[in-house]
Amino acid sequence: MTLTNTTPRPLIAGNWKMNGLSAALDEARAVAAELDRQPAAARVAIFPPATLLHRLAEAVEGSFVLTGGQDCHDKRSGAHTGDISAEMIADAGGTLVIVGHSERRTDHGETCQHVAAKTEAAIAAGLEPIICVGESLAQREAGEAVAFVVGQLRNSLPVSLAGKTFNVAYEPLWAIGTGHVASVDNIVEMHAAIRAELIALFGEDGRAVQILYGGSVKPENAREILAAPEVGGALVGGASLKAKDFLAIIEAA
Ligand code: 13P
Repeated sequence: MTLTNTTPRPLIAGNWKMNGLSAALDEARAVAAELDRQPAAARVAIFPPATLLHRLAEAVEGSFVLTGGQDCHDKRSGAHTGDISAEMIADAGGTLVIVGHSERRTDHGETCQHVAAKTEAAIAAGLEPIICVGESLAQREAGEAVAFVVGQLRNSLPVSLAGKTFNVAYEPLWAIGTGHVASVDNIVEMHAAIRAELIALFGEDGRAVQILYGGSVKPENAREILAAPEVGGALVGGASLKAKDFLAIIEAA
């Protein structure tokens, strides 16, 4: 990506999903140490499992590495066993949160309405949300990918986002964890459709929203994806678990 004074820094976000025990903190420390040595063009964030968030935030405090949660509840507190509020993520040192990841939508039946409510909670707690959307393989093969993703996006964004800082991640389900990365043409087409919808919803503010791509981003394909029009960063799963691979992706931005 060619950066100018007006180009926002790309966001490279590492979603560890349900991976990582205490020893994994060393990977985050290694990322932080390398970025201290050689600051990156990109903003960098790691989303560890909730059990590690506080310790990871402390481990990278004062470095260029931001942290956040992989999900949050839509309520501030209360009788919701096993859930975590946006305020708790902020209290643990996180500054961002992923909402509406397809694995949450599938494993926990989260609807777009849930995702919009979680996004509102994130904003209320002062977190920067990354709202995920993406189509299934069946939807893509039926030629419905763009219409589905645009509708999903519209229904997942609360009106209270107007004027707030947030990001959208396009993650086609068939590209997540499969090694089948979307083609640059697919990515460019979808990101353009997402941008048009953001402008329709939020006017000129819609131009400032960063649209990340996620789905089998690796050191080998990151540079081409990140150079594509309207790609404002990457949401990286498997390749974010090892500092060496994650740093190679950061370096490509
Ligand atoms: P992979 O990079 O492992 O395909 O995961 C993508 C993803 O779902 C990130 O949120």
